[in-house]
Amino acid sequence: MKRFLVVALAIATAGLMLALAVGCDSGSSSSSSTTSEATTSPGGHTILTPAELTDAAPGLGTIMQEIGQRNWYLYYSATGGNWDLAAYQAKELGEAMETGTITRPKHEEALDKFMKDSLDPLTAAIKAKDGAQFESAWKNEVAACNACHAEAGHKYIVWSLPDTPPQDLQLGPVS
Ligand code: HEC
Repeated sequence: MKRFLVVALAIATAGLMLALAVGCDSGSSSSSSTTSEATTSPGGHTILTPAELTDAAPGLGTIMQEIGQRNWYLYYSATGGNWDLAAYQAKELGEAMETGTITRPKHEEALDKFMKDSLDPLTAAIKAKDGAQFESAWKNEVAACNACHAEAGHKYIVWSLPDTPPQDLQLGPVS
């Protein structure tokens, strides 16, 4: 009886040690793989913190360069008769502004107002393929671009339409 207890105790102790050893092992291997997953991307780059990603996200300076170019394309495609291209540029311009509302939320209100009061009427004129309506909505839109620059403390940024049309896309009607 006593011998049976000793054997049972020995088996129990061995079992416990084995369980601890396995537990330790799996614990340490999972923590090391978690660490490598948390610091390195599949491409081998250091994973950035949300704060670093926020700083790296394109700000208005970057986004506005795209917006300026799209506005240029928009004008010459509308007046050239490629209304579908003008509609596309207006849509993409709005999407770039939406990105700006996310990456630089302090400008969200002003960008939303611009899209509602200036970009929507321009888009409506493009959809209507109405040249006169377009010219009047265009003047308002460009004025609103520059009014926002002044209001945002960048009075020196005055966008104006380049004299020459872009050369790479067909601006006349596409049959
Ligand atoms: C929030 C109001 C706002 C509206 C609306 C707006 N902008 Fe801007 N824009 C800015 C700000 C702010 C800057 C300066 C960005 C910075 O300081 O990083 C800027 C800069 C620019 C620049 C200079 C970019 C560079 O770095 O070279 C251009 C070009 C530009 N905007 C074009 C436009 C055009 C075209 C429109 C209208 C279709 C427009 N913007 C509408 C706020 C606005």
